[in-house]
Amino acid sequence: MKSIKVGLLGIGTVGSGTFNVLKRNQQEIAARAGRAIEITMVADLDTERAKKLTNGEVAVVNDANLVVNNPDIDIVIELIGGYGIAKDLVLKAIANGKHVVTANKALIATHGNEIFKAAQEKGVIVAFEAAVAGGIPIIKALREGLTANSIQWIAGIINGTTNFILSEMRDKGLDFDVVLKEAQRLGYAEADPTFDIEGVDAAHKLTIMASIAFGIPVQFSKAHVEGITKLQATDIRYAEQLGYRIKLLGITKRTAGGIELRVHPTLIPSARLIANVEGAMNAVLVRGDAVGDTLYYGKGAGAEPTASAVIADLVDITRLATADPEHRVPHLAFQPNAMADTPI
Ligand code: HSE
Repeated sequence: MKSIKVGLLGIGTVGSGTFNVLKRNQQEIAARAGRAIEITMVADLDTERAKKLTNGEVAVVNDANLVVNNPDIDIVIELIGGYGIAKDLVLKAIANGKHVVTANKALIATHGNEIFKAAQEKGVIVAFEAAVAGGIPIIKALREGLTANSIQWIAGIINGTTNFILSEMRDKGLDFDVVLKEAQRLGYAEADPTFDIEGVDAAHKLTIMASIAFGIPVQFSKAHVEGITKLQATDIRYAEQLGYRIKLLGITKRTAGGIELRVHPTLIPSARLIANVEGAMNAVLVRGDAVGDTLYYGKGAGAEPTASAVIADLVDITRLATADPEHRVPHLAFQPNAMADTPI
């Protein structure tokens, strides 16, 4: 059977991780997907670096339009980030009948409704497992594993940078600014860390999870967002003395008034499992009416953990694209046309 051809937009940390994991595990991945999956084209402004990272094995261009307009490409992976260029390219790829995999939480949380509608009209899939909690397959868990449940609430540590900062401030008594620089050096923080420390990155991820869990459109503008910039070392120390840890939690909940969506520092009793999630790790607690509480833990950022989620989406799309169209299972439980605009 013909291999699935993939075009990659942006080969930074996650892009090179995706290239390497796909190559290293190519046989197992092909067996699971039912076909070989190969990256055949990469677009990046730094073509020299892109050629080095791909060992000269794929076509490298500096114009992403050459990828989204290439008739031989079946799936486009968008790893550019941000809302501007990334949105245009994703919409162009969809218009050209290509499936899209993205790790871009900001894009999905703010323009997801428009993107999903375009994809639905065109009959293509937009997959975004890597946009939430890095390598933890939380989108799949919510959409498939917990599909029998009425989800009651989700509470998660979904920003590695802020969890790293809070852990280091507590354990080593280091200052906020010092730890933030370290998080940037380790590649956890966004290029502009404002979104991390102000809670916006976590709110993007929470918005996406809420839309899957509760079947509502993405409504980032309705989230209450508070980051960790006002916290001081003394807050963390006093909390510890009282038997609590401070964590930046994203919480979404079904209430009588609608779906709540909020991100803020939260006091959690130190004995709780989630209070002991340290460093850049992520953890998401989900309560379903049938299953009860479930906890998902893992690396929320980094090259290969995020690549793991990107490739899972590639495999998913390959399986679905290979299936007889009449018997394809809809990829998104999220059906924009059937959704009520739930007040938050
Ligand atoms: N800046 C993000 C974080 C990266 O710290 O969690 C992964 O989305």
